[in-house]
Amino acid sequence: MSTREVLHVPLGDRAYDIVVGSGLLGCAGELIGPVLNRPRVVVVTDRTVAGLYLETLQAAFDTAGISHDTIVLPPGEQTKDFQHFEELLDRLLDMGLERSDMVIALGGGVIGDLTGFAASVLHRGIDFIQIPTTLLAQVDSSVGGKTGIDTRHGKNLIGAFHQPRLVLADTDILATLPRRELLAGYAEVVKYGLLGDHALFEWLEVHGSAVVAGDPDAIRRAVLTSCAAKARVVAADEKEAGERALLNLGHTFGHALEVASGFGADLLHGEAVAIGMVMAFGLSVRLGHCSRQDAGRIRQHFKAVGLPAHPRDLGLAEQDAGVLVEHMAQDKKVQDGRVTFVLARAIGDAFLTRDVEPAAVRDYLSQMLSQPSDAA
Ligand code: NAD
Ligand code: GLY
Repeated sequence: MSTREVLHVPLGDRAYDIVVGSGLLGCAGELIGPVLNRPRVVVVTDRTVAGLYLETLQAAFDTAGISHDTIVLPPGEQTKDFQHFEELLDRLLDMGLERSDMVIALGGGVIGDLTGFAASVLHRGIDFIQIPTTLLAQVDSSVGGKTGIDTRHGKNLIGAFHQPRLVLADTDILATLPRRELLAGYAEVVKYGLLGDHALFEWLEVHGSAVVAGDPDAIRRAVLTSCAAKARVVAADEKEAGERALLNLGHTFGHALEVASGFGADLLHGEAVAIGMVMAFGLSVRLGHCSRQDAGRIRQHFKAVGLPAHPRDLGLAEQDAGVLVEHMAQDKKVQDGRVTFVLARAIGDAFLTRDVEPAAVRDYLSQMLSQPSDAA
């Protein structure tokens, strides 16, 4: 059986729907049909997701009379590179894809970002649809049109804004996601609460354990609330001229942690963001913006659901503070040499500032890294 709720992202001629629900994959043909120019699609996915869900999707297209080809890429962040980007474009062109055809990204953020970027440049821009299969992709990366690849200079440094024509977030698909990946995506759900929705954070304090345990109703509510929050921000600031940067809460610190850990399997993006949000609130306390109680609640919550909550959990120590500050200075959001921080006045009240001295950050990090993991 299929249940669904529809959110709209109002972006003029780039507007689209996000359909959230259960059993969506099995009726994807019917859902996608109305946005196709002709009944032909190419599905891009990764090997793991293909093994689990491709057959269902293909059967749904057969039922709806939509012809389909498939490109299966290796799973993992390494696929989001120039080599696979070129290979993907070549294969799409080999298949004779026309400007009015549709590409479908079936996978997590890696497949979504890579496929969206390929769609943005193929024939100077063709349409694509996101069918996100990780919690991170359902609550964050599939919505908003940021696409791109990684290079040796860093993550996501090459890309384009290219909005999808439709997002289908089938929450049943999350049942096969490894728990660690689910938790990493959960950090992005918490982010929406911390940056602008105190009531969401309170709900997560009560129901977060059900979300990470895979409870279908709790997951659906978490995905819906997150997509609604992201859609609101994207509609107000599509190209990140201002408010959208609030979605980077925890990301400047998180990115520095990812660089320090070498972007390996030891630290998933969502785990880095979780610790990064603890650090952003810790710095906010130190600078007198936010209460100690709020920062403590966040650490408590991450510990309760099983997310890392302190850089010492990654084995970092006091002497690493300077290196982390240097990594932050390489962040792509640096402007005129100043890092844009997302800080907070309270849970649910984040703000942007470029008015933080690197020395203050270094002092805060040295102090934090010299303390045990249960202190901010
Ligand atoms: P991912 O795409 O690598 O997926 C994680 C792993 O889960 C992969 O091995 C994948 O094969 C597997 N998987 C996917 N769905 C599954 C399922 N339903 N069951 C079992 N296994 C499944 O990682 P991700 O966390 O989804 O995305 C990370 C990427 O997203 C990063 O490259 C990051 O830069 C990007 N991102 C983009 C945005 C954006 O706005 N565009 C936002 C946040 C993150
Ligand atoms: N993930 C942050 C953004 O989409 O802006």
